[in-house]
Parts: sequence; structure tokens; C-alpha cells
Amino acid sequence: MADPARRGLLVTFEGPEGSGKSTLIRGLAGRLEALGRPVLTTREPGGTPVGERIRSVLLDPSLPELCPETELLLMVASRAQLVREVVLPALADGRIVLCDRYADASVAYQGAGRELGRARVDALNDFALAGAAPDLTLLCLLPPAAGRRRFGGRDPDRLERESAAFHERVYDAYRAMAGSGDPRFRVLDATAPPDGQLEQAVTHLRGLEHDLLMGL
Ligand code: TMP
Repeated sequence: MADPARRGLLVTFEGPEGSGKSTLIRGLAGRLEALGRPVLTTREPGGTPVGERIRSVLLDPSLPELCPETELLLMVASRAQLVREVVLPALADGRIVLCDRYADASVAYQGAGRELGRARVDALNDFALAGAAPDLTLLCLLPPAAGRRRFGGRDPDRLERESAAFHERVYDAYRAMAGSGDPRFRVLDATAPPDGQLEQAVTHLRGLEHDLLMGL
């Protein structure tokens, strides 16, 4: 890779609620670890002690007064911490970082879902990312109604409780990324069973033709 400070690989996973990202990331990490590759899995919001505290505020259903602007700033604050504490050091160390949600989630949820607008979110993401853009983003696409059915009996968090219209806007934003023509985005059919999703993800990763993925 051109940037010597960045020998690793950053792969992010995005999608609406219930799209099976966590299972997919576990499966993929297992495959890469079995090949002896240095893998680091993390998530947003969260992934650091500071970020996990921010996450608990963001997802707390007892805080309905949390306004969209604060929500965006807290998402970005968690991201800024994760980038500096985890992502950049791991990339410099030559690791494969698998991140459950990242900057695109703020575009979809706060930019589109909360209707705060793309430009504002992009500017804040630039500030948080410090150049740590993903090499590949897997969009796990699942219609919102199907995602809701996967919650099971679990108590929904503050964002999961949002209206159907909110979740439709989020889904539409992810679909727009999928159709944007940006080669960073690859679509995964999240209605497929877990094994099928894992194979789709592996195929997309192979397409990167990165040294760290040889033999996958
Ligand atoms: P998770 O359930 O996939 O762990 O994500 C936590 C929630 O946070 C999920 O509802 C998506 C939301 N979210 C945003 O609204 N904006 C963001 O920037 C991120 C990273 C997550």
C-alpha cells in the first residue's frame, strides 16, 4: 500500500438493524485467525472504554430527550477516540481491522434518519477519521421490517425504538451507498443464511487482492 504508516486493512460492516453483522464478523474473524492473520474486531459506537461509555448514553431508552445534534456529536466523539486509540495503531501494526459500523452509519442514521444532512455529517466524519478511511465496506442489506422480526424478545434500545419512517430513511441511505458506484461499497444479501453471508463476504474480501488476505 502506498502509505507506509498503513500496512493493515480496514473493513467496515454496515446495515440496518438486525442485519446479522455481528455473526458475520465473528465468522470472518474466525476464518482469518485460522489462517494465522492478525485480526482485530471492534465496534461503533464503542470499541474503547470512552466509546463504550458514550454508547451506553446513546442507546439508553430512558434518555428520549437526547437531541439529534447531540446524538451526532456523540457518535463522532466515539469514532474520534476509536480511530486514535485502536484503528490507526492497528493499521500501522499491519492488522486486519473488522469494524461493526463506522462513519457511514452516521451518514445513514443521523444524516438521513435524523435528517441532519449529508454535508454536516461528512465534515464531522473527516474530523474524526484523520484519514482512516475503510478499504472496504460491506453493506448488509435487509429491509427494516425483516430486521425488526429478528429482535426476538429483547428490549429494543433507544435507536431501535425509532419510527418505521426513520428506519426506512436509514435503509434508503444504505441503498443509495450501494448504488453510488463507489467501489469501496460491496453489497451483501442479509436475507441469506449466516453461512451464505460469510461466503459472500469472503468473496468480496478476496477481491481486494491484499497480501493479508492471501489464501482466504
Ligand atoms: P449496533 O446495534 O449495530 O451495535 O449499533 C448501535 C446503534 O447505533 C444502531 O442503532 C446504529 C446506531 N448508530 C448511529 O445511529 N450512528 C452511528 O454513527 C453509529 C456508528 C451507529
